[in-house]
Amino acid sequence: MENNDKHFKRYTVTTALPYANGPVHIGHLAGVYIPADTYVRYLRMKGEEVLFVGGSDEHGVPITIKAEKEGCTPQDIVDRYHNIIKKSFEELGISYDIYSRTSSKTHHETAAAFFKKLYEDGKFIERETEQFFDPERNKFLSDRYIIGTCPKCGNDHAYGDQCEKCGSSMSPDELINPHSALSGAQLVKKATKHWYLPLDQYEEWLRDWIIEGHKEWKPNVYGQVKSWLDNGLQPRAVTRDLDWGVPVPLKEADGKVLYVWFDAPIGYISNTIEHCTEKGTDWKKWWKDEDTKLVHFIGKDNIVFHCIIFPCMLKAYGDYIVPENVPANEFLNLENDKISTSRNWAVWLHEYLEEFPGKQDVLRYVLTANAPETKDNNFTWKDYQDRNNNELLAIFGNFVNRTLVLTHKYFEGKVPAMANLNEKDNAAIEEMNQYPEKIGHLLDTYKFREALSELMNLARLGNRYLTENEPWKQFKTDPERVKTVLAVSLQIVAKLAILSEPFLPFSAKKLQAMIGLNVEGWNQAKETVLLPEGSVIGEVELLFTKVEDETVAAQIKKLEDTKKQNELNAWAPNPIKPNTNIDEFGKMDIRVGTVLECTKVPKADKLLQFLIDDGMNKRTIVSGIAKYYPNPEELVGKQVCFIANFEPRKLKGVTSEGMILSAEDKDGRLVVVTPSQPVAPGSNVG
Ligand code: MF3
Ligand code: ZN
Repeated sequence: MENNDKHFKRYTVTTALPYANGPVHIGHLAGVYIPADTYVRYLRMKGEEVLFVGGSDEHGVPITIKAEKEGCTPQDIVDRYHNIIKKSFEELGISYDIYSRTSSKTHHETAAAFFKKLYEDGKFIERETEQFFDPERNKFLSDRYIIGTCPKCGNDHAYGDQCEKCGSSMSPDELINPHSALSGAQLVKKATKHWYLPLDQYEEWLRDWIIEGHKEWKPNVYGQVKSWLDNGLQPRAVTRDLDWGVPVPLKEADGKVLYVWFDAPIGYISNTIEHCTEKGTDWKKWWKDEDTKLVHFIGKDNIVFHCIIFPCMLKAYGDYIVPENVPANEFLNLENDKISTSRNWAVWLHEYLEEFPGKQDVLRYVLTANAPETKDNNFTWKDYQDRNNNELLAIFGNFVNRTLVLTHKYFEGKVPAMANLNEKDNAAIEEMNQYPEKIGHLLDTYKFREALSELMNLARLGNRYLTENEPWKQFKTDPERVKTVLAVSLQIVAKLAILSEPFLPFSAKKLQAMIGLNVEGWNQAKETVLLPEGSVIGEVELLFTKVEDETVAAQIKKLEDTKKQNELNAWAPNPIKPNTNIDEFGKMDIRVGTVLECTKVPKADKLLQFLIDDGMNKRTIVSGIAKYYPNPEELVGKQVCFIANFEPRKLKGVTSEGMILSAEDKDGRLVVVTPSQPVAPGSNVG
């Protein structure tokens, strides 16, 4: 049970290791990295002992596919993205104690040893199955490398795991004529041995531990685990026939690696070991002490791995702790559309940092305010602008700025005494003193959105207090009263400077420096007087600046361009028709003619009537392209291609003697086909 009464001695906090085959985007940030960092910063401020572990997930088939496509090695790919990701996390202020990677030596050793121990303790079952084998490349193929004809839609380029044309998911056995994407070779079936973790043997333990013991977990997480358990668990293969990954440490397993989902979570442990080895401290206390609270921050697609498979691995191993909570989030959409790496439908962190220098906290704010905590949520640039301008700037920034500027104006920047408090002052003080507890409790229970909105309520309280007391009006008549009002306001500013730190670390630090506040911890914020009488306020700087319409428009334009590009990319020409030959083709008499007249057919909005000089005669041809030529006279004088021996037919009362050839564009638009240079009317096309 997440025993909120139990005091844990320390915290191990992990974030899902992002695949190093692309940069991270706002969906990752909102779901995993920003809430985790907020949590960790809060814990550290409370004086807790915390280890914050991150890293890149550098194995798995998609990385090998990307490398193959780009003609480089998988290591090249992961080097590139690991560095981009690591740097962008740093710049956003994600305050890892360690951010390492699963291609590291420490990780390979740790993961192999982990497997070895489970193997030696008899925790696996071995199974031989028949798998597709590429005889030319001499290797087994993972589903993505198997191509064949989709049995549902006939697409002859469907993958072994999915047909991208009709969207149906696939197993390689369903494909018609499966062959290798690597060599094109016909595949054969061959027996191969793999090791399986018998998850079914852990069902009872899982039920006890989660279903009975962790009813406080988020409903989305708890519900998913329960439905997996209700459906019954199956043994899971933990090895693969692949040449990229951690080699299986057994003689008989040549050419096999650990399944990426087996090795990656062990990466949390490897990275802990790497960190502690560097520091010369003991890593085991973070993973093997019942007084350590382990918390995994992940997205919803990772729930089964962190709530079922990895815990079973840890349990099978023996002396590890299991997570105390797994606060998984739902997904974030972008402008009402699913974020997609392959469609480039995303706001990429490294691009944001470059395009919005110094605005890390704005992104952190917007993504926390819109965190997909209980359901999928949506990011829009308009909302980004509104939240910056109407909340961060108008509420938080404005209150802080007004208070500090007035202190300079009336008291030369010196904090006045907080004396002669009236009833309303006392009420405001009492109210503001509740926030550390309130926000803290929400953070303890992973309600980051609500916690942030309470932080803003504290700023609202400050604004309200200032507005009600109007120091700018009172200064002439009652300067003593203004001292009190500003003294109280300044304490609210100081409280904000502390409590905002987990959410807005850059702005908080700036504000703390500005008001000369030395922050000792979260609980310090419970004190009423944080800025004693006479302490000096430094030069006032703006914490936030306006996000202009042009800025937002430019980002929206960028996304619109992506959409257009995707539409173009998504279009595919019709499949080629069955073969024909010269005899068949010879039956068509295709010629060039010159347009003499071109008009709309009355009462037929689709039809154009052409008068064509065919070299011998003038002939009339009717064509259904009126929609695409609103000014048909523009065609007069142009040359067109037409089928001269097309059987005459009557269209809307006009006899058409032939057929004009048009090309059909991807959007169904028709344009007439013309020779690239003028030719004599009547010339044959062939
Ligand atoms: N790379 C995985 C993903 O992006 C997450 C791995 S989490 C770990 O979905 F626990 F396996 F490391
Ligand atoms: Zn299909």
